[in-house]
Amino acid sequence: MANIPETMRSLVAPKKGPPSTFEIASMPTPSIKEPTDVLIHVRAASLGTGDVQIAGGKLEVFYKATFPLKIGISGAGVVVAVGDGVKHLKVGDEVYGTNISKPMFRIPPPGFVSEYTVCPENLLIRKPPSLSFEEAASFTPMVVAAYQVIKRGLQVRGEESLEGKTVFVPGALSGTGSIIIQVAKNYFGAAKIISTVSTAKVPLVEEYLPGMVDQIIDYKTQKVGDLVPQGTVDFAVNTQMSSMDDCIAALDKKTGTLMSITSIPTKKVAKEIIGADRFPWWFGVILDLAQYYYTWKFWGTNIYHEMVSGSPDIREDLELSGEIVALGKVKPVMRVVELEDIEAVRNNCEEVYVVKGGIGKLVVVISK
Ligand SMILES: NC(=O)c1ccc[n+]([C@@H]2O[C@H](COP(=O)([O-])OP(=O)(O)OC[C@H]3O[C@@H](n4cnc5c(N)ncnc54)[C@H](OP(=O)(O)O)[C@@H]3O)[C@@H](O)[C@H]2O)c1
Repeated sequence: MANIPETMRSLVAPKKGPPSTFEIASMPTPSIKEPTDVLIHVRAASLGTGDVQIAGGKLEVFYKATFPLKIGISGAGVVVAVGDGVKHLKVGDEVYGTNISKPMFRIPPPGFVSEYTVCPENLLIRKPPSLSFEEAASFTPMVVAAYQVIKRGLQVRGEESLEGKTVFVPGALSGTGSIIIQVAKNYFGAAKIISTVSTAKVPLVEEYLPGMVDQIIDYKTQKVGDLVPQGTVDFAVNTQMSSMDDCIAALDKKTGTLMSITSIPTKKVAKEIIGADRFPWWFGVILDLAQYYYTWKFWGTNIYHEMVSGSPDIREDLELSGEIVALGKVKPVMRVVELEDIEAVRNNCEEVYVVKGGIGKLVVVISK
């Protein structure tokens, strides 16, 4: 077994607050508690909105954090110890994944932006040797979520592919949009992709996503409804709360499918996320009322709308996402910072926190 130190460097929120308060702290190295867990020497971690917002108290309705709070739920590294019940992984294996299972918010975030983290083996897949740890980390957890949200949208229409279809995905260079676009085109065979970015990012789309986006719209200065002829978009995946109207404007009003990773969830979806046993009744009332908002938004259309929360704990889907990655059907779109550069880490986490500014997935290098 590798020589594992008793303490490790970890990105933490020392108290409730935004990313400007994050620090690198010395924390106890976690140890394996469950037989199916592995201990990972983390090389690179990726960060998404919820991962940093939890420290700012924005998810308190689901999870009341205790501090210091280790940040991060996703990343890539090398297995350095395995529990007695681990069947498929061994010390030395290079892996990547996301440590969330539903119902969520039962355990503190595992702290993937640390030198070591513990993760159940069923949430990890092997890193292809052709990928760096940073690249592998950048795909978590979005490739599996992209696959699931598109698959679900096709399923409700009794279809299996996006062949021949025009697909709208706002936020081409966001952490989620950049992956959904590639999965839609390279795995599900979408014929045409339309997307949006802010003005300064327009010339960067072809650089980061070569050959992927057929029509790019500057959402700051142009209106999607003015540039996309009515009825020409078959399928949309909404990636930002503020881009729902663009999806509705683009879609065929009679037959369009609008899948979303970021709408207000229905009671059913929220119960799956939090768990029925911890679901406050009043929260259900709020979510039911919120659905009237969507009834109003979709009034006069037959657009099918559903919000999907990604589930990396569905092993079959996780393995399929691993194949998508291994076959090179998605390329990393990321920005990389070193953990030691705490100012860069804070600034980039701030962009993720406010969901504005950054390009692709934020990846933090922990150790080389
Ligand atoms: N359901 C799921 O399984 C799941 C999984 C992962 C994430 N999510 C959710 O998905 C959302 C997005 O996450 P993310 O990782 O993509 O965040 P992100 O990478 O931080 O994306 C933010 C980017 O989106 C762009 N953007 C913001 N508003 C836009 C709009 N109206 N139209 C087009 N682009 C816009 C911004 O670009 P500019 O700076 O150029 O404006 C910004 O760079 C979050 O709410 C997150 O919680 C859900």
